[in-house]
Amino acid sequence: MAITTDFLVIGSGVAGLTFALAAAEHGEVIVVTKRSRDESNTKYAQGGIAAVFAPDDSFEAHVADTLEAGAGLCHEVVVEICAREGPERVRELIARGAQFDHDNGQVSLGREGGHSARRIVHAADATGMEIERALLEQARQNPNIRFAEHHTAIDLIMLSRFGGPDVCAGAYVLDETDAAQSPPPPPRPRDSERPAPRHRPASKPHVVETYLARATVLATGGAGKVYLYTTNPDVATGDGVAMAYRAGAEVANMEFYQFHPTCLFHPEAKSFLVSEALRGEGAILRLPDGTAFMANHDPRKDLAPRDIVARAIDFEMKRTGSDYVLLDITHRPASFVREHFPTIHAQCLRYGIDITTQPIPVVPAAHYMCGGITTDLYGRTTIPGLWAIGECTCTGLHGANRLASNSLLEGLVFGHRAAARLATQIAELRQSPFPPVPEWQVGNAVASDEEVVVAHNWDEMRRTMWNYVGIVRSDARLRRAARRISLLQEEIREYYWKHLVTRDLLELRNIATIAELIVGCASARHESRGLHTTIDYPETSERLCTDTVVKRGVLPYLRGR
Ligand code: FAD
Ligand code: SIN
Repeated sequence: MAITTDFLVIGSGVAGLTFALAAAEHGEVIVVTKRSRDESNTKYAQGGIAAVFAPDDSFEAHVADTLEAGAGLCHEVVVEICAREGPERVRELIARGAQFDHDNGQVSLGREGGHSARRIVHAADATGMEIERALLEQARQNPNIRFAEHHTAIDLIMLSRFGGPDVCAGAYVLDETDAAQSPPPPPRPRDSERPAPRHRPASKPHVVETYLARATVLATGGAGKVYLYTTNPDVATGDGVAMAYRAGAEVANMEFYQFHPTCLFHPEAKSFLVSEALRGEGAILRLPDGTAFMANHDPRKDLAPRDIVARAIDFEMKRTGSDYVLLDITHRPASFVREHFPTIHAQCLRYGIDITTQPIPVVPAAHYMCGGITTDLYGRTTIPGLWAIGECTCTGLHGANRLASNSLLEGLVFGHRAAARLATQIAELRQSPFPPVPEWQVGNAVASDEEVVVAHNWDEMRRTMWNYVGIVRSDARLRRAARRISLLQEEIREYYWKHLVTRDLLELRNIATIAELIVGCASARHESRGLHTTIDYPETSERLCTDTVVKRGVLPYLRGR
């Protein structure tokens, strides 16, 4: 029996929750989310939200900085919208209960690389945690919003329409809650002729639910887990982009994966970011022997945009053979450092590093997916019935490189815009009954008895991406990566059709698709621009100043201007 709702939101980060709260004023919302409701990239955001509040700042300056970072590929109209609507969205967040730092009654503004003014609204160095807390608290009190935690969307439900494009009607979702686990329900093959699974241990239940909605909204975030080293949490496996791509949606600019310059380098630290805000407050990048090096790479030194800083670190690590560089804020008063960066201070202390007296060993790591599902100015994708917001999209805001702290902003602005637009359509959408759709079919699939295959392929995929599709690329490395990814995809496909789905397997299939899209888009771009640097085409070409687009069945190509 299908579960029906007005708005099905997949993902509970800043974009999904912003949409849910606004849409709940006009209808019922179900938020499906992979793990606990607060687990997301949003939760780990440190620096803050870029928005114009300072008297010496302006929308024009925010727009100019964003365009400069985006290296020619930003869509100016989108940049304008985000800059101008940002302050209003931040005020709304504050009204919803978010507590940001203030100085003398005014919001206190931090500084980050590429910004020409103090513009970063923050809650010390744990801004994302505060945003999630405030939005989830509001959602908890809203009777129109229901959460399905530990539910992983598998695929979109697509319906063919005579004479028109296929329409998205909802999603198939894997339920991993305790309720689903006890007692394990039988699989539901539609065709009763099909044999029951041969082997299904009780600890691995297989419950796939059918969700139908008037509008399905992907808010699934990024895909940092496609790389071996990342600042992202485990949920960031690009599921939304992969699902949309399989369903036939247009995806763009996947070659532009942003590497954050400063992730903590420590054998026991998993994915811990050291915020750019430290450099905003004067921290200096040094070689292990103490030499400051950013002046050799950019006149803006440590406050250059992060693609430049990440490439400079990569260059210096390769040149000196060092495994890391140092980020040094020891010249600032210890009380200042403790007050402004309590999370980073405490986390580094856990690993034996007192950042008030010792420099921090750091390395670049995969951080942010600038490409994604293409949308219009209201979050509509190229598939009717399917909307997308937040990091899983390519709205045109970031171009070839995202400016620091513009992504929380994008999630807020587009979460709101999509809900506002759908509010005008929901009454009409309700006129049509929910369509009959087939339930999820397991066919002859059996429970996996070789999870090690999945784990091994995960590891191989992430290493391949790290080694061949990292900060600096070449045609030969991309070809090598493409061959390996294609082989892994063949194995994954075979495994997928033979076995009952698990979250691990679904995520593996999705990161393989993301890897294919990144390599495909990178191979199509014969120039270096923004985050895409290749030794075979070191120059930027005016002729190629356009988005790379890709669709299932169509090879990536640069769209004519
Ligand atoms: P997310 O917050 O990632 O949420 C995605 C949601 O989708 C999660 O709930 C996830 O569980 C769920 N999901 C995914 N797949 C599925 C599926 N198949 N089924 C069900 N649910 C699914 N940006 C800034 O602007 N400022 C910062 O200071 C900043 N700092 C950052 C620091 C770190 C360490 C990281 C990792 C990122 C940072 N970013 C920052 C980037 C920013 O946090 C993200 O781009 C932004 O939070 C993305 O929001 P989102 O709502 O699109 O996705
Ligand atoms: C940071 O705090 O350095 C991350 C900011 C961002 O990713 O926008």
